Amino acid sequence: MSDFPVFPPGFVFGAATASYQIEGAVREDGRGPSIWDTYSHTPGRTDGGDTGDVACDHYHRYPEDVALLRDLGVDSYRFSIAWSRIQAEGSGAVNPKGLDFYSRLVDSLLEAGIEPAATLYHWDLPQALEDRGGWRVRETAERFGEYTAIMAEHLGDRVPRWITLNEPWCSAFLGYSVGRHAPGAQEGRGALAAAHHLLVGHGHAMDALRAAGVREAGITLNLDRNVPATESDADLAAVVRADTQHNLVWTEPLLAGRYPATEEETWGELITGQDFRREGDLKLISQPMDFLGINYYRPIVIAAAPHREADPALRVATDNRYAEGNYPDVRKTAMNWPVVPESFTDLLTVLKQTYGDALPPVHITENGSAEYDSMDADGSVHDADRVEYLRTHLAALRAAMDAGVDVRGYYVWSLLDNFEWALGYAKRFGIIRVDYDTLERTPKDSYRWYQQLIAAHRA
Ligand code: FCB
Repeated sequence: MSDFPVFPPGFVFGAATASYQIEGAVREDGRGPSIWDTYSHTPGRTDGGDTGDVACDHYHRYPEDVALLRDLGVDSYRFSIAWSRIQAEGSGAVNPKGLDFYSRLVDSLLEAGIEPAATLYHWDLPQALEDRGGWRVRETAERFGEYTAIMAEHLGDRVPRWITLNEPWCSAFLGYSVGRHAPGAQEGRGALAAAHHLLVGHGHAMDALRAAGVREAGITLNLDRNVPATESDADLAAVVRADTQHNLVWTEPLLAGRYPATEEETWGELITGQDFRREGDLKLISQPMDFLGINYYRPIVIAAAPHREADPALRVATDNRYAEGNYPDVRKTAMNWPVVPESFTDLLTVLKQTYGDALPPVHITENGSAEYDSMDADGSVHDADRVEYLRTHLAALRAAMDAGVDVRGYYVWSLLDNFEWALGYAKRFGIIRVDYDTLERTPKDSYRWYQQLIAAHRA
């Protein structure tokens, strides 16, 4: 027990999931198609052609999952709402069966003594909105505000913590520039327009959440700790661009009410002369939040890659990342991500140094690792590497708090093994194993470890 990092009273321990990754039931009860249905059903897009059609079948098995959460002892559960269950086409009529599903989920969480934390958008845009331009167009941001108002009206009294967007970097840049996420576009300017409209959508959603009087509202970002490969001028300049496209593009408008000073050197003519920004946008985007959600997994080593910078689509997102020679001496997870807990501390302390009092209290809304788990003959899963990852990252988080960062909560990613986007079911992030043939759930050692940590914290 003594190796559990100690957290202050009231600190929130939670677990997280996302709709398309666990729900399944994609054609049930009036749910409309999302961009992830389209993308995963397009040959060649996902590993093994995996789709979220069934996933963990959480849509039907949520009572079992809530029971597992209750036994785990978490204070809070972070889930996401599939917009196309609420409005099949992303606008217009509300689908009562979709609302009812989330209402039942929320009620069963509350009965189990677990605080619901709802993410409004974890990447599953209604396909009908993508057909009209997706996040490239402002209309999508406006529709997002309307959908948020519907959810806040129906669940605002029962859900205390609301997250507008999950990792807009992935939506904008993996979705519209790298093309490795839905909708799979490879554009330069389109991705920058998407980034801006996601922020505008966040602003409209904040307005709607405030109007409904919810207790806490914020956004979740996947901020990166970008580490130069060498101290060469070229690599250091590449880090400035990487910081701009990963971090400052979000944190500057959200926390400082301005666009990044380094955006021109990062995107050149792709950002200058753009026509998607309007007067008033920064005010809408920068309204105060009750918390900032941060998802953290690993640092990224950055080296200049001139050949990539020549391609406008790649240039806006992947220009200068490289994975080779990536922390050669440290262990890699099944994602080939280096395990470097100190960089988690650094990310948070640097953020605090940069924004000072403008940084709201932080919730770590995701942290965890994919490992090559296997099940023993007796049905146990001894995922010692995941336990070690969680232990060292919680200690690194504690170190950031000791250094003055106000962190209020931590959500492990993920409650269940699930559909890991383009990588399909091969990557297992769960603290609970899911057998994809039988859909049986089996708590892993990491689940027991987290359970004990939470119990020790309470005691
Ligand atoms: C994050 C996503 C989450 C999951 C983890 C591993 O980028 O928010 O859905 O895929 O990575």
